[in-house]
Amino acid sequence: MSMPQTSFLLHKAPILRGSLSVPSAKNSVLPLLAAALLCDTPVRLCRVPALADVTAACGILSELGRPALWQGGDLILEAKPLQTSVLPACWMERMRSGVFFLAPVLARTGRVEFCAPGGCNLGARPVDIHLEGLCRMGAVCEQKENCMVLRAPQGLHGCNYALRLPSVGATETMLMAAAAAKGVTRLDNAAVEPEVLDLARFINACGGCVRQLPGRRFIIRGTGGLRGSVFTPTADRIWCATVLCAVAGCTGEVELTGIDPAALSGLPQLLQRAGCRVEVQKNAIFLSCTGRLQGLGMVRTAPFPGFATDMAPLLAAAMLRAQGFTTICDTVFTHRFACAQGFAALGAPVCLRENCLTVGTLPEEAAPVLHAAPLQAQDLRGGAALVLAALQAEGESRLHGVEYIRRGYADLPGALGALGAQIRGW
Ligand code: EPZ
Repeated sequence: MSMPQTSFLLHKAPILRGSLSVPSAKNSVLPLLAAALLCDTPVRLCRVPALADVTAACGILSELGRPALWQGGDLILEAKPLQTSVLPACWMERMRSGVFFLAPVLARTGRVEFCAPGGCNLGARPVDIHLEGLCRMGAVCEQKENCMVLRAPQGLHGCNYALRLPSVGATETMLMAAAAAKGVTRLDNAAVEPEVLDLARFINACGGCVRQLPGRRFIIRGTGGLRGSVFTPTADRIWCATVLCAVAGCTGEVELTGIDPAALSGLPQLLQRAGCRVEVQKNAIFLSCTGRLQGLGMVRTAPFPGFATDMAPLLAAAMLRAQGFTTICDTVFTHRFACAQGFAALGAPVCLRENCLTVGTLPEEAAPVLHAAPLQAQDLRGGAALVLAALQAEGESRLHGVEYIRRGYADLPGALGALGAQIRGW
């Protein structure tokens, strides 16, 4: 088994062309793997992508005593009692998604001990909303040296809880806790990203009772233990955005199947405004781009259905050589654009001011000619954005830090390679 590469080589892409099927979403699979702990009978998750974060989640499950076993592209979780309530620090520190295990382990054992989760450095990423919500359901928090213990020896009970901001992870924590609690929970100001709704669908498929109401609201009636089910996670909209922005930036055409375009948070409309031709169907999207893109002016990220924060660096990479400026402000994370340094190294005119990144040129200026440069990924989506940028640069670029990219893409070089891009290593 060859060791995975830590960097890869990229060349200017030819016109990209092809058709790809969209894989299951990393940000759905990860909470689903945690939620499976609420089930008293086996769970089968279908079409699970082979991601480093999935490996980390499987590491946590193994340490807890409920290993997830691969069967082809599916993951099977047998129903076994948990062996511990301590979330292993070695896995927790690798990704933010370790936080998803708080609620199910607490609900099943009455206790959970954990250290601060790791994950991409996108700015401060506290878990206060997760903790406050669980405490409102009867948990008690205790700080230990460098970790925390949550206890709920009497189990969790329903509550009315308004999140101070529509946190995706905290909403998912509350959905899982409420599904196992005694009584009814009402959530207000919840996140409604497609991955959150996928978790609600999974809980209901397992015999739970989650109802979404208009205006970021959920009502959950606790049903105690859930029964296992066979479940296929929703498509990865960020993976989809990555490929669409690659084609928009390099020119070409692509058809992506197995995706609901409504999950793409307005990206198709933005790329159409930039000059791409976009056709959407119920479960597919087609995009073609033949010339220089037109700048989009101001674009702000926002919780779903707003423009997704994870798509911000990807759209910036597509707009690097556009005629006219595009300024993308991330309102969700404070350190979203670490990739700006790499864009500049490639010769793209960029201006980063606080959480806003401006790319593109004055309308009367010619398109900048990007040139190869050594690049360093500093987070998952910023790393993917540097791939998209290097594919627009003359010469051979080496991108270090692909371990970040591997956390969220099973084989990005293979996907873009199927469209004609030349990316070596992986
Ligand atoms: C999820 O992270 C996704 N990760 C992120 O994708 C995504 O960027 C993010 O949602 C926003 O859509 C997974 O689902 C595994 P949040 P999460 O809680 O849950 C603050 C990727 O690249 N906050 O919605 O951590 C937080 O600091 C990743 O795939 C609190 O203040 O995001 C941030 O500013 C990156 N207290 C904002 O809320 C809390 O208790 C949104 O965070 C929780 C969050």
